[in-house]
Amino acid sequence: MKNIKFLNKLKKIIPNNIQPKFKNDYDVLKWNQKKGKLFCQSIIKKNNKIKKQNMLKKSGIQALYINCSFDNYIIEHEGHKKVITLAKKYVQEFNNNINNFVFSGWPGTGKNHLASAIANYLINQKKSVFIITIADLMSNIKKTFNRKLNVNDNEENLLYYLSTRDLLIIDEIGIQIESRYERMIIHQIVDRRYSSKKPTGMLSNLNYYDMIRVLGERVMDRMCLGNNLWLDFKWNSYRKNIS
Ligand SMILES: Nc1ncnc2c1ncn2[C@@H]1O[C@H](COP(=O)(O)OP(=O)(O)OP(=O)(O)O)[C@@H](O)[C@H]1O
Ligand SMILES: [Mg+2]
Repeated sequence: MKNIKFLNKLKKIIPNNIQPKFKNDYDVLKWNQKKGKLFCQSIIKKNNKIKKQNMLKKSGIQALYINCSFDNYIIEHEGHKKVITLAKKYVQEFNNNINNFVFSGWPGTGKNHLASAIANYLINQKKSVFIITIADLMSNIKKTFNRKLNVNDNEENLLYYLSTRDLLIIDEIGIQIESRYERMIIHQIVDRRYSSKKPTGMLSNLNYYDMIRVLGERVMDRMCLGNNLWLDFKWNSYRKNIS
């Protein structure tokens, strides 16, 4: 009955030589449902894209490294091959492990490139990742001293934020860690993350012994025990290849 009504209505408004797209109400319903589903999928896709963009914005990845991936890490020798293979394995096993990593080595050898490739890959998997240099970390913590503490802006909140990211990468671990306070903060962050089974990455030009001297044995014990990943980057700088 309904179908006849619908067809009759259509017939009144379309020219005789044109065949209606739908033969009955059921066809219209099916078509609407299909369109609705496609629309929902496109909204979900758009939302996911916005979410990822926001996560990327909040990740601290610098402009130079925003497009760094495993695909654009050029393999020129065995050293490159080893580090990219193990970095890829690290992200593939990320969900099932809490392993820390340290990328240690000479300037321009791709530590930030590969760390950003790791970050970009994990952000794509909807993980929260934050990269910060030790200098920025300290200046942010010191800034919190100068303000009248409010809920969003105190040392505890900053430490909480840093301790709860799925992956925190601390860059440029170097000789500038001078005070006991700075060492204590790093220890606190690494220890909190370790206790809550959240991995931490570190990038440094220092070797293992210098890192112990700078960060202390307790931090390095947590960073390097068990299945944690230590990668040496000891080859010529790639910067000369970039015009
Ligand atoms: N194997 C590689 N393939 C492609 N680009 C590379 C490679 N290695 C390094 N690069 C590029 O070279 C530049 C320097 O690398 P990066 O900043 O990662 O070095 P780094 O080891 O962090 O150096 P530093 O210790 O001085 O901070 C970056 O633009 C990076 O993308
Ligand atoms: Mg670097």
